[in-house]
Parts: sequence; C-alpha cells; structure tokens
Amino acid sequence: MKKHRLKQLFGEDEIRKRVKALAKKISSDYENGDVVLIGILKGSFVFLADLVRNLSIPVKIDFCRLASYGDRTYSTGEVRVTKEIEIDVESKDVLIVDDIVDSGHTLGVYSALIQKKKPRSVRICAFIDKIGRREKKVNVDYFCFRIKEGFVVGYGLDYNEEYRHLPGVFIIEFLEGVEDHKAGDR
Ligand code: IMP
Ligand code: MG
Repeated sequence: MKKHRLKQLFGEDEIRKRVKALAKKISSDYENGDVVLIGILKGSFVFLADLVRNLSIPVKIDFCRLASYGDRTYSTGEVRVTKEIEIDVESKDVLIVDDIVDSGHTLGVYSALIQKKKPRSVRICAFIDKIGRREKKVNVDYFCFRIKEGFVVGYGLDYNEEYRHLPGVFIIEFLEGVEDHKAGDR
C-alpha cells in the first residue's frame, strides 16, 4: 500500500439521514412489490444492513459475490460470479445493492445476468454513485451520495481490505505517486 491519509467526506449523522430518506423512497416505490434485495459482497454489507432496517416494506435478502479480472483500480468488464444467489427471482422485483458504482462494468454485467432469470423488474441501488469515470452506461436508480472522483473508504468500502469497518466515509489522499492496487474482489 502506498503512503496515504484519510480525510472525512461524510460523517455518521449525514449517512444515517441519507440512508433513512432513501429507504423511505424505496419503501414507497415498492409498496406493491415482491422485492428481493441482492447485496454484492463484500462492499454492500454495511449499507444493506442499515438500509433494510429502515424499510417499511417486507423484502427478501440474498447475496452474490463478484470478482473481476485485472490488477488495477479499474474494473475491466470481465466479471465473474464467485457466489451465486440462492433465492429464485423469477417474477420478483430485484433491487441490486452495491457500495459504489464507478466504471459501471460490474453492475452493467451483473444486471444483464440477473435479467436472464426473468425477474419482473431490476433496479440498481448504490450507496455512492461515482460518476467521473463511467465507461458503461448503467442506470443507478437509487443512491445516497454522488461524487465525481476520488477513492473512498469506510462504511463497507475498502482499500486493500482495510477500512471497511469505519462508520463514516473517507477519501484517500495518496502522499506519493498514484496507487495501482489489485482490484481482486469487488
Ligand atoms: P465498477 O465496475 O468500476 O463500477 O466497480 C465497482 C466496484 O469497484 C465497487 O463495487 C467497489 O468494490 C470498487 N470501487 C470502485 N471505486 C471504489 C472506491 O472509491 N472505493 C472502494 N472501492 C471502490
Ligand atoms: Mg464492491
């Protein structure tokens, strides 16, 4: 890991408010739905846990795990499913929940895979929509925060598996050069 420091971007109170507001909107949009939330491991686990506890509608919850090939901070579009969902989503309203959408490759590929299971609807919910280097057009239907650029950690998001446990979101400031870490698990 390159030398770096963390600078707070979003604090716990702000996150709590945004998650609550988003859960309210999702609850109202899916009032008559038959909803399955699919959390993408590992990054979504904190957001998903807070989100579901603020929903006022019944939902089912499953997880999948995706890995992308390549060894840069960029996702290459070659996405592998390393743990598949176990709930049958045919005719269900699927909401895919992830920590952050960056290039868009991961969720672009995964939502196309989910479509093959014949759900009634598929939407995407990301804790953070990072819009500055989108390569694949994906509709991020729900998000808590939108940022343009930068590498962020905390609230489930990691840098080389560090910092997922932090309750706030922090931007990484690299103190020397540009980091080029292993993408590995998304
Ligand atoms: P995409 O295919 O480029 O949209 O990749 C999204 C995935 O890359 C996310 O699910 C994260 O695991 C990871 N990622 C992208 N940007 C960040 C970041 O700023 N912090 C931590 N992980 C990130
Ligand atoms: Mg992720």
